[in-house]
Amino acid sequence: MNHVLITGGSRGIGKELVGLFARNGFKVSFIYNRSATAAEAIVKQLQEEGFQVFAHQCDIADEAAVKALFKANKEELSDVDVLINNAGIVGTARPFLLTTGKDWWEIVHNNIGGVLNFTKNVLPTMIRNKGGRIINVTSLSGLKGNPGMSAYASSKAAISAFSKSLSKELKGTGIIINCVAPGFIATDMTKDVTDAYYQQRMSNSVAQRMGTTEEAANLILYLAKDAPAYLVNQEIVLDGGIL
Ligand code: NAI
Repeated sequence: MNHVLITGGSRGIGKELVGLFARNGFKVSFIYNRSATAAEAIVKQLQEEGFQVFAHQCDIADEAAVKALFKANKEELSDVDVLINNAGIVGTARPFLLTTGKDWWEIVHNNIGGVLNFTKNVLPTMIRNKGGRIINVTSLSGLKGNPGMSAYASSKAAISAFSKSLSKELKGTGIIINCVAPGFIATDMTKDVTDAYYQQRMSNSVAQRMGTTEEAANLILYLAKDAPAYLVNQEIVLDGGIL
């Protein structure tokens, strides 16, 4: 059985991924930060349906905590062959000059730090097993920039560059790394987006709507499962054709 590890699995795209991967035959381990009740409800429901699903609390940006998580759950996490670095924060949208250094770096550290910490801890297993797939969730903001979100956009661009560099470092190991860059997906993260700038961009897009968590999760499942091994080192944009 394939085993997927998903960060940020208690809500939004991550929650959708947990259910989709379980129903597609994966053993699923997922990480949540503060939403223990939501995480427990997901595990309970999927276990009742007969699926193997496990949840762990961890701050993805805390290097020592992530290391301790892998140590404490050595047996469970010893056969992870798909890692989805999904967790991330946008922080408060604010013009750069009104942003404190502390707030700016917190967003960058959280988003890229989480990817680094989880990747570092699954790679030894994947290298030993001569294969694995890593999918990192980036953002259209990292590719195109976004006013008021320079830290978030920078963190996602960093994840993209990290992914492509690591993929080249790991050539010959059988490990496949790709990124998915969503535009606007309807989740808690975007529920308060009422700003005219965003509304206008969405209504001018080809799809003329936000994407769904199902659409994002299906693309990620494809990359994890059925996508050809020749599809490597890509950042696939899922944005409904935003201009
Ligand atoms: P969300 O806010 O609903 O879920 C993100 C999850 O990540 C939350 O459960 C949160 O607790 C978790 N998380 C964040 N920092 C964490 C930490 N330090 N430790 C543990 N967990 C942590 O967001 P959504 O919309 O589901 O986003 C998922 C990913 O997709 C994020 O990386 C986001 O940046 C990216 N994305 C989302 C877009 C959208 O329109 N919803 C657009 C572009 C990218």
